[in-house]
Amino acid sequence: MVVADSGLEGVVAASSSICDVDGLNGVLIYRGYDIRDLAHNSNFEETTCLLWNADLPDRATLESFRADIQANMVLPGPIVDLLRSFPRSAPLTAILRTAFSAMAIYDEDVSDGSIEAVRRKAIRATARMGPLVAAIHRVSADLPILEPREGSIAGNFLYLLHGEWPDEVSEHVYDVCLVLHADHEFNASTFAARVTMATLSDYHSAITSALGALFGPLHGGANEGAIKMLREIGTPDRAAAWVRAALARKQRIMGFGHRVYKVYDPRARELKDMSRALAAAQGDMSLYESSVEIEKVMESDRKLFPNVDFYSASTFTALGIPGALFTPIFAVSRIAGWSAHVMEQLTHNRLIRPRAEYLGERGRSYIPIQER
Ligand SMILES: CC(C)(COP(=O)(O)OP(=O)(O)OC[C@H]1O[C@@H](n2cnc3c(N)ncnc32)[C@H](O)[C@@H]1OP(=O)(O)O)[C@@H](O)C(=O)NCCC(=O)NCCS
Repeated sequence: MVVADSGLEGVVAASSSICDVDGLNGVLIYRGYDIRDLAHNSNFEETTCLLWNADLPDRATLESFRADIQANMVLPGPIVDLLRSFPRSAPLTAILRTAFSAMAIYDEDVSDGSIEAVRRKAIRATARMGPLVAAIHRVSADLPILEPREGSIAGNFLYLLHGEWPDEVSEHVYDVCLVLHADHEFNASTFAARVTMATLSDYHSAITSALGALFGPLHGGANEGAIKMLREIGTPDRAAAWVRAALARKQRIMGFGHRVYKVYDPRARELKDMSRALAAAQGDMSLYESSVEIEKVMESDRKLFPNVDFYSASTFTALGIPGALFTPIFAVSRIAGWSAHVMEQLTHNRLIRPRAEYLGERGRSYIPIQER
């Protein structure tokens, strides 16, 4: 039996046509399109169509997809009641995972496992993930939950969060963030979703598995860790010493390093540019400059580069998004990629069931409890 490296590093677990990460050259593609091309020219709705359908949509397909999304943004009433029933002190990630899982119960296709029904569920989940995260925030802040408006997923998310439709720059920046976070090959949460789907379980179970995997600090939880670190550092002049002291204590610096990228994560470059532009426009470069100081130390002392979670911390902060929401909002975008992978898995399904190299004992005889 061939034993995989710990953490399945470098193991190709299945074939896929959705997304590829070239970690040596720092290139990420969705369905053949470079992420930089999509970040500069596409938008989240169009990118979602691309991930799900393998091609960029024509105008009619995109308009029909937008209409489907718009028609499904409102949260089911019982889900809103459920959000209100949770203690205010509950972790937002736990609320999101539980509320998303509960959405299965109110889904009209709950008992239909066909690929067509999975696609309908994926539309509803993609339409509702932003409103759900915004509602979780507003309930926790004792604010009223708002009704979605006519407009993009990005614009609606910021509107439902803040209560004001965002200006064009903020809507565009958040939309690019959604494109950048939409998919990333066989990352931990996507793999978890595929493992669950491969048992022919239901769509909501697959996405709930993904949410659980996403929330760890080594995956989607890193962006919240990054903003906590930036807040603790305070001012850019303190950043280098702070990071060196943390590294000396063997602390991991959140938002750096990657299992696949050995060079600069291309998403981090885009986020860095947006973070700088927003900071300049808002006249407060402090978080951005602290981030740059941290990056310099990590490169010179450890040869580690920022990943998607590093400059997203200062970018999301400039958009007025509270740090406690950084991990949940990853799902607003990644629902697109998870759904694409779940549909691909279902279309060419085979149970995912690896083996373990057994290191335990063998041949023991049972000892009655009174003799132990
Ligand atoms: C993402 C991550 C889990 C990938 O790690 P991995 O492929 O399993 O690599 P390892 O954990 O084996 O790390 C390899 C070495 O780099 C170091 N390293 C990796 N990331 C580091 C970080 N962010 N800060 C400090 N050191 C780091 C490890 O300590 C280890 O050093 P050692 O060999 O001296 O023990 C890791 O880089 C990490 O923990 N990053 C911080 C969390 C994060 O940003 N996650 C979001 C990923 S998109």
